[in-house]
Formats: sequence, C-alpha cells, structure tokens
Amino acid sequence: MKNIAIFASGGGSNLKAIYSSIVSQSINGKIAIVVSNNPTSGAIEFAKECKINFFVINKQICPDQYKRESNILEELINKKIDLICLAGYLKLVPEKIINHYKNCILNIHPSLLPQYGGKGFYGMHVHEAVIASGDKRSGVTIHFVNEKYDRGEILIQEVVEVKSNDTPESLSHRILKIEHRLYSFAIKAFCENKIVWEKGVPLLKDIK
Ligand code: GRF
Repeated sequence: MKNIAIFASGGGSNLKAIYSSIVSQSINGKIAIVVSNNPTSGAIEFAKECKINFFVINKQICPDQYKRESNILEELINKKIDLICLAGYLKLVPEKIINHYKNCILNIHPSLLPQYGGKGFYGMHVHEAVIASGDKRSGVTIHFVNEKYDRGEILIQEVVEVKSNDTPESLSHRILKIEHRLYSFAIKAFCENKIVWEKGVPLLKDIK
C-alpha cells in the first residue's frame, strides 16, 4: 500500500474526494499526511475531523526558508511517503522535495495545460480567463511536477465544454466534479504501479 501526502491550501474538495476513494477501497493507499501553509483551510479542518496526520508550515511559523523546506522533507521521509499529490497547494514545491520525489509528485490543474497555466493562473482566475477568451473548451489536467510551474509531463487530461452562458463559477463547478473523478483515477493508477515512463513520458497501462 502506498503512503500518500496531500498538499492543500484551500477548501480541500479534492482531498475529500481522494479520501472517499480510499475509504471505498478504490485506491489502494493511505493518506499518511496532509501538508498545508494555511492552518484555517478546509483541508486542515477535514484532516482534523478524519484524524488524518497533518503538518502546517508557513513563514509565520518558520521564517527561515531553508528550515521550512527541510522540515517538510523530514516529515515526508518520516511518514515514508511514496506519492505527493498537490491539490490546490498555492506555494511552490521546494526544489529539494522535487528532486527527492522525482516522478512521484502529481498536480491537478483546472484547465487544459499548457493553456491557462503558470504564474497567476490559479483558482477562479483560470476560469475567468477561459470565459474572457471565448474558448469553447476547457478541462482538467493531471501532470507530474517538475521545477517549472505547471509544466511537468502530462499524465491525463479531460475536456469540459464551455457553454455560451457559463460564468467562471458555473464552469469551475463542472470542472471540479471532473477533477474529483480524474484525480482518484490517476492516484489509483499510481498506487497500482500502472504508470510507466517511456522516453520521459508517463503512460497509463492496463487501465479500465
Ligand atoms: C482545484 O481546482 C485544483 O485543480 C486547483 O486548485 C483547486 C483546489 O480545489 N489546483 P479544492 O481545494 O480541492 O477544492
């Protein structure tokens, strides 16, 4: 069984969806820790409710960046983490964590990357930009994390049609539902060793 760390700063709906996939035994894994920079986030509240280990760290708690990064890595190593899932984590993942967990960090993004990704494209800003552009398609991307923001290898994407009367809120609502299903699917694949790397590209094998 794989040990999973979820990094989240916000509401935590993806965390909740992953947790229910674990409870229903669809994912053969365990959320060994929730890491957050935000002590009042929905994600941390949920971790407390469900008695999941959590670790909150930010500049106020630990002003020294080197120590902050080392403390997170230490927690992950102590918990024997196999997979890190970023689920609405608004901080950059330190390079030493990326190097230590090469090809073992996933992120979910609410657009069809590389479109609407990178600096400034987070939360509702993504959906506002899609609507403003008049694009007819948006979607969900799950990708591996490397040192470039929103730029790691894409594992899986799903298209969501943009309707002519969509608002950023209505679009985000539809996309979030897909996110919950797709993230659990990707994590399940990881936990069953069904992601193979070929020439630097991650592929899903034998997946129903
Ligand atoms: C999701 O839209 C995710 O794609 C993005 O941040 C949002 C997190 O939502 N990276 P939640 O906190 O899981 O509800």
